[in-house]
Amino acid sequence: MNVCVRVEEVRTFSRAVRRSGKLVGFVPTMGALHEGHLSLVRAAKSQSDVVVVSIFVNPTQFGPNEDFAKYPRTLKQDRELLEREGVALLLAPPVTEIYPDGAATYVMVEGLSEKLDSVSRPGHFRGVTTVVTKLFNIVEPDRAFFGQKDAAQIAIIRRMVRDLKIPVQVIACPIVREPDGLAMSSRNAYLSGEERKRALVLRRSLLAAEEAFKNGERRASKLVESALKVFNNEPAVRLDYFQVVDPDTLESAETISRPVLVAVAAYVGSTRLIDNTLL
Ligand code: PAJ
Repeated sequence: MNVCVRVEEVRTFSRAVRRSGKLVGFVPTMGALHEGHLSLVRAAKSQSDVVVVSIFVNPTQFGPNEDFAKYPRTLKQDRELLEREGVALLLAPPVTEIYPDGAATYVMVEGLSEKLDSVSRPGHFRGVTTVVTKLFNIVEPDRAFFGQKDAAQIAIIRRMVRDLKIPVQVIACPIVREPDGLAMSSRNAYLSGEERKRALVLRRSLLAAEEAFKNGERRASKLVESALKVFNNEPAVRLDYFQVVDPDTLESAETISRPVLVAVAAYVGSTRLIDNTLL
C-alpha cells in the first residue's frame, strides 16, 4: 500500500490508474477505523478496480467546543487494517496540505446544511462539504463510498455532487452495528461501560418507531411519540433530535406516504451519537 501525504503524489497515482482504464474507488474517513469503515472499503473493492482511502481529521467540521483535539488517532493500526484489505493508496495528509495558509474557500450546500445535525453543530456540514470537495479534487475518483450511518451527510454530498457537476458516483453503504445493535462509531471509544449500555437507547428508539410503522401508523408525530417514550426511560441520555424527514431534502415529513429517513441524535454523557433507519 502506498502511503501519501502530498496532494500531487495522489493525483499522479490516480490519473495513472484511470489512464489504464481502471476505476478508482474512494473511501474518505477520519480514521480510528472500525468494521463500519472496513465495510465501505470492501464495497469499494468489489465495485472498483483500485481503492484509495483517506484518513484526515478535518478541523473545519468540528465546532470550537467539540472533540477535534481528542478525536481518536490510531494511524499505525489503521494502516495495518487497510493494508490487509488490499487498499492501493492511503492518503493521510497533514492539515496544512489540505488547508494551506490563507485557505479561504468553502463549499456550502444551502438549506440542507442547516438541518438535522447542524442545529447543534453549526458549520459542521460546511466543513464536510468543503473537505470532501477537496478530497474529490485530489483523488478524482470514479466512485466514492459513504456510510448510511451519516444519512444527512450522504444527502448533502449527493446534492453537492449534482449541483457542482462533480464527475463521481456516490454510493451509500448500510450501517454496520455491534452485535447488540449499537451503530459502530469512532466516538463509541469515548463511552464508559455504563454509558455504552445507555447508548443502546438510540437503537431502541428507532426500533420503537419501526414497530409503530409496522403496526400501520403513518403519522410522523406518532412515530416520534413512540421514540420519546423510549428516551423517557433513559433520562441520563439527552436527546438532541428525533426526526422523520425526506431522505433527499431532509425536510420534515408529516405523514409517511413515501420512503422516509428516521434519524436520531443524542448525548450520552458528553459523547454525541447518531443513528437512523429508513422506512
Ligand atoms: P468518519 O466518521 O470517519 O466516517 C467515514 C465513513 O464511514 C462515512 O461515510 C461514515 O458514514 C462511514 N461509517 C461510519 N460508521 C459507520 C457504520 N457503523 N456503518 C457504516 N458506515 C459507517 O464521515 C466522516 O468520517 C467525515 O465526515 C468525512 C466524510 C471523512 C469528511 O471528513
